[in-house]
Amino acid sequence: MSAKVVVIGSLNMDLVTRAPRLPRGGETLIGQSFATVSGGKGANQAVAAARLGAQVSMVGCVGSDAYGEELRGALLAEQIDCQAVSTVDGSSGVALIVVDDNSQNAIVIVAGANGALTPALLGCFDSVLQAADVIICQLEVPDATVGHALKRGRELGKTVILNPAPASRPLPADWYSSIHYLIPNESEAAALSGLPVDSRETAEIAAARLIEMGAGKVIITLGAQGSLFADGARFEHFPAPTVKAVDTTAAGDTFVGGFAAALADGKSEVEAIRFGQVAAALSVTRAGAQPSIPTLSDVQAFKTP
Ligand code: RIB
Repeated sequence: MSAKVVVIGSLNMDLVTRAPRLPRGGETLIGQSFATVSGGKGANQAVAAARLGAQVSMVGCVGSDAYGEELRGALLAEQIDCQAVSTVDGSSGVALIVVDDNSQNAIVIVAGANGALTPALLGCFDSVLQAADVIICQLEVPDATVGHALKRGRELGKTVILNPAPASRPLPADWYSSIHYLIPNESEAAALSGLPVDSRETAEIAAARLIEMGAGKVIITLGAQGSLFADGARFEHFPAPTVKAVDTTAAGDTFVGGFAAALADGKSEVEAIRFGQVAAALSVTRAGAQPSIPTLSDVQAFKTP
């Protein structure tokens, strides 16, 4: 039986426009296309872990609108267990996304139903957490719930991963001791550590600081520059596979889901990082959040161009 990954987090309907470039303040641009795509950092990570070989349960909330049914259906189609996905009155989470001709994006999220995932509701699904090998959290549900999930995961002896996204401020200091793997991108690492992160050297300094703050191990994702692993004893840099990027949306989510699936499957950290990086590289060659996430056979067939 495949190893079990439990994702506690957001489900969003992504409203995606493509435009030649990102708009400036006060500017109206003519877009080239529009699509609604299932997303949300939590749901994307769940889909990534499922497509990449894990048995997955999702804990989250959708609204009582049509998006809610669609978001749940997208997870069920991946054989993800949704017994802990609650439907609450009101709107589902949404993300307004603009992707430009350089494949960069800008995203505004509105939490909607994701805000209803309280610690009390999470407590109703403790049996789901108990069945996990690896637990993943992000920051698109209430902070109190994330804090509860991290602590409970650690108490239960699970491997606990926090992808601190989106982050624009330091994390509560008492979270760190529950985190086995902290996986921020450059801007999140800067926000958490209070240090600039714009190179491999500055990423090492920030990662060391995050370990001093209490995180077990840190993996800073550096986009096309790969990722930096730190465990307090050593740093290791992993170059990213070279691909032609179409849309970077959910690349970080694909890395996190792939890393977790590989770890849950018994792979070493180094193997899990390389596996996550190939999956993330493949995801940027395709448009959208969940539609861009590769399968296990895609990753196994990947050859550096
Ligand atoms: O990481 C990408 C995701 O961020 C999108 O799917 C969007 O929903 C936002 O949560």
